[in-house]
Amino acid sequence: MMAAGGDDERGRGTPASAPTLAASAPRADAGAAVARAWVWPDEAACAAQAAALAGRVAARAAVPGPPFSLTIELHGPLGAGKTTFVRHLVRALGVGGRIKSPTYTVVEPYRAGALDIAHFDFYRFADERELGDAGLREMFAAPGLKLVEWATNAGPLRPPADLVLDIEPQEDDSRRVRVHAATARGQELLA
Ligand SMILES: Nc1ncnc2c1ncn2[C@@H]1O[C@H](COP(=O)(O)OP(=O)(O)O)[C@@H](O)[C@H]1O
Ligand SMILES: [Mg+2]
Repeated sequence: MMAAGGDDERGRGTPASAPTLAASAPRADAGAAVARAWVWPDEAACAAQAAALAGRVAARAAVPGPPFSLTIELHGPLGAGKTTFVRHLVRALGVGGRIKSPTYTVVEPYRAGALDIAHFDFYRFADERELGDAGLREMFAAPGLKLVEWATNAGPLRPPADLVLDIEPQEDDSRRVRVHAATARGQELLA
């Protein structure tokens, strides 16, 4: 059930039928930060949004200069669609084959052309000291695209997020997604 009075900018003015990267009304509490409210009526809309973001990521990653690095955190309850979004994003970047949920492996690495991708899932991660053992800190520090589910379980050593997606399943199975850019690099991708 929607909390009465709790629905601020979300969904207002956003067509329910199509995903969009267009700006929503800025969040009152977000200051100058770039924020978006996306609506996914169904998984196809999630896939379309992922493909749009993949296009922007690929274009940015192709710019000559220092190696491209971007971290996206995905938040939301079990079954929200975090892994589903990552799958569509990774496929849209050109990765073929099966894209497994890293729930048991913690990380699944991919490569799309010159772009390294690491998909993390810290759901089962109880102790952040495991980070060293698993060689994860090296993966955090490496350039490339890092997609992180259950990031807070990884503690403060995790890579700082450039973009944060907060996926909220609705009673009709649609998803409301609050997106915010935490860095200039993230803002550039939402602009
Ligand atoms: N609008 C939607 N966007 C994304 N996934 C959806 C949507 N509607 C239904 N789903 C379904 O919800 C499930 C989400 O599962 P998953 O991506 O594994 O969630 P999480 O990783 O957040 O635990 C998938 O079965 C997916 O097909
Ligand atoms: Mg998942």
